[in-house]
Amino acid sequence: MSSLAQKRILLGVTGGIAAYKACELTRRLRDAGAEVRVVMTRAATEFVTPLTFQALSGQPVRGTLFDPEAEAGMDHIALARWADAILVAPATADFLARLAHGRADDLLTTLCLASEAPLCVAPAMNRAMWAHPATRANADTLCARGVHLLGPGEGSQACGETGEGRMLETPELLAGLEALFAGGSLAGLHVLVTAGPTREPLDPVRYLSNRSSGKMGYAVARAAREAGARVTLVTGPTALAPPEGIECIPVETAAEMHEVVLSRSAQVQVFIAAAAVADYRAAAVSTHKIKKSAGHLQLGLERNPDILAAVAALADRPFTVGFAAETRDLERNARTKLMKKGLDLIAANDVSGGRGFDADDNALALLWPGGGTKLPRQPKEQLARQLVRVISERLRADQGSKFKVQRGCNP
Ligand code: PMT
Repeated sequence: MSSLAQKRILLGVTGGIAAYKACELTRRLRDAGAEVRVVMTRAATEFVTPLTFQALSGQPVRGTLFDPEAEAGMDHIALARWADAILVAPATADFLARLAHGRADDLLTTLCLASEAPLCVAPAMNRAMWAHPATRANADTLCARGVHLLGPGEGSQACGETGEGRMLETPELLAGLEALFAGGSLAGLHVLVTAGPTREPLDPVRYLSNRSSGKMGYAVARAAREAGARVTLVTGPTALAPPEGIECIPVETAAEMHEVVLSRSAQVQVFIAAAAVADYRAAAVSTHKIKKSAGHLQLGLERNPDILAAVAALADRPFTVGFAAETRDLERNARTKLMKKGLDLIAANDVSGGRGFDADDNALALLWPGGGTKLPRQPKEQLARQLVRVISERLRADQGSKFKVQRGCNP
């Protein structure tokens, strides 16, 4: 049964083209057993009629503060108290700005101020608007106040451009809301996971990579989701299907993974680096296919950024978990990585003799400052659940010290 069953969700719809997606969202919320009441801004009614939402939610739709008839039924304060959670989807740049400034100039912003229920917003806008420093500052302000930011996602946009700013799809929004109410050990937290290999191009047809299949990282992402977290998976190229209910961001190179991870780190409470990131890339990528010749071919390589170390070095960092792939001196080498990169926990696997990479099972030695435990060989799905259990225990042990866990920026 969905954790949304019998929950009272106030769905705010603001004026963007993604308003049409809120119709499907209303249906799916009701399918999950939630009671839904819709509040639309005036601009939202330019995109979808209130009648549509009335039919889909089975409830009258509210739009204005100054409706004597509606206020005589459930007034706006009663409506604010009624909600178990508020979800604003789509949330335009203008709405985020008004919310960040504490405005109460329409019914929806008034309800957001008057309600003590968790507030989730699903930004949806053109990529340049989302990238604008003003919007980013507003999003950061909201995040710091405990508003749960769901997305935005990346992809093609209604305006014809491509980039970050798309509203998340309905299953991702439902997963975000469900995580708010789920009772798992990571409930209410946002977990960022990397998985798979990276590909470092040499020329238009060749690349440097490794044997990572992504199975371990995907299993970790699923286990975190099962534990009630909202999960974002940044994945190198794999043959695996994107896991259900998880925001999936495909990347190719270490530099791309670095950029995406660093742009998301401020919004998450836990970071788990299961990807096998290439340590080196070609110093110069040939624009034409490299021709064979009689002599040796020398490739110049340069270091890629260390994504894990960069996250661990952030001032306001998430609980940071690394993996260590070792072929000898497993625990000694892994503990050196733990200390050198300043991690909270490291999951060390022996990858000698065909183990670990592209296998269906694995064994892990988990090490943290001052302690550790071993997880015996077993299927990666099972192993990932045990890893997530240990992560949540370590996280609780450190809670109240340096981590943002209690703030719960994102579900
Ligand atoms: O994908 P599978 O086929 O299921 O295989 C799983 C796995 C063997 C890939 C996985 O269990 C694993 O060990 N992942 C980490 C592999 C690795 O790159 O280990 P490392 O010891 O070289 O790196 C240490 C840590 O630093 C890792 O968390 C890695 O993600 C991170 N790193 C490394 C280099 C870099 N430039 N940036 C990083 O963030």
